[in-house]
Amino acid sequence: MPLFNVYPLYDVTPVSGKGIYVYDEKGNEYLDLYGGHAVISIGHAHPKYVAAISNQVAALGFYSNAVQNPLQVTLAERLETLSGCEGYELFLCNSGAEANENALKLASFKTNKKRVVAFSNGFHGRTSAAVAVTDNKNIIAPINSQQAVTILPLNDIEGVKRELEKGDVCAVIVEFIQGVGGLDQGTAEFFEQVDLLCKANNTFFIADEVQSGYGRSGKFFAFQHYNVTPDVISIAKGMGNGFPIGGILIHPSIEAKFGMLGTTFGGNHLACAAGLSVLSVIEGEKLMDNVNEMSCYFVKLAKTIPQIKAIKGKGLMIGLEFDFEVGDLRKELIYKHHIFTGGAMNKNLLRILPPLTIRKEHINMFFEALVEVLSEVEELEVEN
Ligand SMILES: Cc1ncc(COP(=O)(O)O)c(C=O)c1O
Repeated sequence: MPLFNVYPLYDVTPVSGKGIYVYDEKGNEYLDLYGGHAVISIGHAHPKYVAAISNQVAALGFYSNAVQNPLQVTLAERLETLSGCEGYELFLCNSGAEANENALKLASFKTNKKRVVAFSNGFHGRTSAAVAVTDNKNIIAPINSQQAVTILPLNDIEGVKRELEKGDVCAVIVEFIQGVGGLDQGTAEFFEQVDLLCKANNTFFIADEVQSGYGRSGKFFAFQHYNVTPDVISIAKGMGNGFPIGGILIHPSIEAKFGMLGTTFGGNHLACAAGLSVLSVIEGEKLMDNVNEMSCYFVKLAKTIPQIKAIKGKGLMIGLEFDFEVGDLRKELIYKHHIFTGGAMNKNLLRILPPLTIRKEHINMFFEALVEVLSEVEELEVEN
């Protein structure tokens, strides 16, 4: 049976990983500055992570949400402490889209409204409500167009005010640093005004931290760079370092009711063991300090490269913008220099999403390769 062909693939087959490197079937080493799409937070095959998952699967891999699961309680407690989101409650699911789906559903249940305000170039996942609030017509099927959604430009505070005052908006959903779209960010004033408008209009403020959360921005959550209090915070990606797990953090003012949300696999024992080991490594290895230090170093080097026209993002969620499309550049980096990087909807932008354990030596390797590739591109342009 052939695979349903929905992914354009690079011709690379990673079979193992260690720290910031992955290795293909021939033993070639690749520097992973993409983290499998911002997923690898504590590095590939971290020994504590491997031990936690191995021990848990040997004891009990799964049981459903019909019985006590103390691992969920410990995960919620550890997450509260590390994130500083005091009093928030945790609902666990399996992916980023599912996290946003639950966040939107909760907003609609609680406000008894159904329209959502989202932003240009935003990406929130591919399930029903999550894809409807995503600004990409190519991935929205007719069945998804039943959702009531208004997409506004980032920073259009007058637009947000106008829409919320109509009284039918259950949620505003935002990425504080856009991922797939290309690392654009709203202003502090904009985010803080949106927060106030939501509170004034019985509208949930949903922070989509699926990509920017778990320390990637240099704070535990990207919204913590601003003076805002989201009603719901959605998480996934770095949370499990590759093990599928997602969740939403729910403000203490929002009351739960039996049956309101639910899932078979969400919060299973194995996922919780993975999630707990990730938090323990983020804390034990002071990875958020490393994010800030490495981010400064990365940006300092990026500023020395004249072909880079803009440096976007925060922490280790960085976009390097050029005045040409970066598809060929990424191919050169991967095939010739064995370095994984990411692309974005903005075709001129190279996305850097390494494991949070990255060191200066890895950043040096990247810039040496980048300078070489850029000089080759220029030589070709001169020849032509
Ligand atoms: C900001 C954001 N939200 C949601 C998602 C969807 O997550 P998943 O692919 O785990 O469903 C993504 C995935 O890239 C994302 O970047």
